[in-house]
Amino acid sequence: MEIDLSLIGMERGRQYETIITSQNDEGIKNAAPIGVLCSGRDMILNRIFKGSQTLDNIISQKEFTVNITHSPELFTDSLLGNLDDKLFSDDLSLKDCDAYFKCEVISFTEAVKRSDPVRNKGEAIIIKSKVTDLKINKDTAAFNRGFGYVIESLTNFSRFDLVEGELKEFYIKRFRESYRIVNKVGTKQDIKVMHKIKKELKAKGHDI
Ligand SMILES: Cc1cc2nc3c(=O)[nH]c(=O)nc-3n(C[C@H](O)[C@H](O)[C@H](O)COP(=O)(O)O)c2cc1C
Repeated sequence: MEIDLSLIGMERGRQYETIITSQNDEGIKNAAPIGVLCSGRDMILNRIFKGSQTLDNIISQKEFTVNITHSPELFTDSLLGNLDDKLFSDDLSLKDCDAYFKCEVISFTEAVKRSDPVRNKGEAIIIKSKVTDLKINKDTAAFNRGFGYVIESLTNFSRFDLVEGELKEFYIKRFRESYRIVNKVGTKQDIKVMHKIKKELKAKGHDI
């Protein structure tokens, strides 16, 4: 099949939430939710924190599989533990995924980002990879977190004028955080509407 990540809804420069499957030297399979930045039709970037099994496996094998799914169960179970062996296909993809692609590593780069919201001094590796194979099991689009934040911001927007004090401060903080995330990972349309919501909140006199 033609390798073009836009076939699974991936836009260049945007980040998507996926489940990466990988294996170690002994063939033990692993699955974990990991963000994928699309950097071209057949190129991706990952930023993976040191200490994860996924990173160790990718460093040792120089290859991995990116699974596209909208299953809350697969995301949750692969984060809270490892997935049962029977959920993996022989080619390392997840049997129930909507689509998957195989990647070969081109380069590893050390990355230390002091402003990371999760870790004060996050130590991670940026992995640049080439997509070598793409399989689409059903019509799908990779999951992007932006739209969820847009909907949440709109819901909060409709409550802004109804609240005061601490609760208003709480909504303002949530909007600022949603705005930051959408600008980082959202699609062009998500970013555009978040600017619109911000402008409207400012016009209403809210200190955004
Ligand atoms: C939706 C989602 C996206 C994630 N993206 C990343 C990521 O891009 N990089 C990373 O290092 N961890 C990410 N994580 C956290 C890893 O999944 C988590 O550290 C996991 O325990 C790693 O598992 P492993 O040790 O089996 O590789 C993400 C978690 C979730 C729920």
